Amino acid sequence: MKVTVIGGTGYIGLVTGLGLAVHGNEVICVDIDQTKIDGLKQDILPIYERGLDELLAEAKELATITFTTAAEFAIRQSDIIMIAVGTPAMASGATDMRQITTALKQVAQAIDRYKVIVIKSTVPVGTGAWAKQLIKQHLKKPGVAFDVVSNPEFLREGKAVKDFLHPERIVIGADTKRATGMIKTLYHTFDAPLITTDITSSEMIKYACNAYLATRLSYINEIAEISECVGADIHSVIAGMSYDNRIGGHYLNPGPGFGGPCLNKDINALIHFAQQAGADVNLLRAVLSRNARQTKNISHYVSQQIQALGIANENVNICLLGLSFKAGTDDLRNSPAVDLIDQLVEKGVVIKAYDPAVKALYKRHATTVSVCDDLFSAVDQAHIIIIMTEWPQFKQLDLNALKKRIKYPLIVDTRNIINVHRAQLAGFVYKGIGIADRSALEIMDAAL
Ligand code: UDX
Repeated sequence: MKVTVIGGTGYIGLVTGLGLAVHGNEVICVDIDQTKIDGLKQDILPIYERGLDELLAEAKELATITFTTAAEFAIRQSDIIMIAVGTPAMASGATDMRQITTALKQVAQAIDRYKVIVIKSTVPVGTGAWAKQLIKQHLKKPGVAFDVVSNPEFLREGKAVKDFLHPERIVIGADTKRATGMIKTLYHTFDAPLITTDITSSEMIKYACNAYLATRLSYINEIAEISECVGADIHSVIAGMSYDNRIGGHYLNPGPGFGGPCLNKDINALIHFAQQAGADVNLLRAVLSRNARQTKNISHYVSQQIQALGIANENVNICLLGLSFKAGTDDLRNSPAVDLIDQLVEKGVVIKAYDPAVKALYKRHATTVSVCDDLFSAVDQAHIIIIMTEWPQFKQLDLNALKKRIKYPLIVDTRNIINVHRAQLAGFVYKGIGIADRSALEIMDAAL
């Protein structure tokens, strides 16, 4: 089919455009950013995402992909227009709809025959109905037929190409058979269950998924804190939970809290529009506040350890391993590591960091944090090593080699990726998440 993707050089737009192109569709990726479009024509990707370079090469080989800034031309050529522009959060938590509005008006001005307009961007529930109205109001050719469809994406950073090419499901929210039929045809080469529903429910599915994922993480982070307080071991707790088919053991690793561009933003947006619609959002609020607590707990623990060391804060060297919000990406948006750094900076300690993918932090960190080129430089003379991202190379750290370079042997492993006994054997004081440093008996004795 002939497809135009508006916002076609962005994260979602590019993966979607290329993914559809390698499935044999004729795709035009449109963007207002001339530099990115020119770059893509010369095989320069505007973002790093595993496998995207190969996808681009394959689409070019098939000659099914075009990059352009000429939106009107592209829209006229296509049967399906996918909108994948950014929907950032505003300070209130509400979604900034300016880019979507511009794209919809552009579509309204360009369409001259029946088209299906697919909203891929994550948008507040109700956007589909609103988009229909907006297009109608701005049609250059009044009366021309069109349908609006919601087709949310479920792409994870670092796995987006795989997630697009091998989706667990494809959700199609439409209110006409004609539109549903066209989107079904678009995806007919994909081996995935199709969920067809109305537009509003489809929009809700996306928020329901991300809110559930976040809830699951806040839940296990809370259970980890309780485990630590009562002397239970979170690894065993999760193992025991995972055999219950209703629960499973996946997406249940406690940590420094969820980050990234999506989960926080989407829950804030959900809270915002749910409240406007008169719904109760106590659970969602708790999910966010639990999440914010994770880095506060780590920061508090660090303060306690500094006090126990009896060294002035400005003489304490902290080594942070991992800066991105999760392994496999260089994305710093909403990264718990950055959040922790901001709290540590306030304490006036010396901070050195290393991340295999991140080579610089934000401007505000220029004078307060050194981002090192190699792990050992970051570790040198450290009093406290804090692992913030679960990069595979941190799992296999040579602890004996590390021990020779540090001032005090304390590892705070916020991803629980290092074996406690291995750390202790190498002479480290080990602190994980949900792993008590006192036995249940000691805790009980202290409480009585
Ligand atoms: C998420 C959703 O998974 C995806 O479906 C949606 O389209 C976009 O948002 P992403 O943000 O790329 O994807 O990352 P994800 O792998 O879900 O991780 C989110 C955060 O949770 C990360 O900070 C990660 O470190 C954390 N996490 C994840 C945990 O702390 N423990 C886990 O077990 C899993």
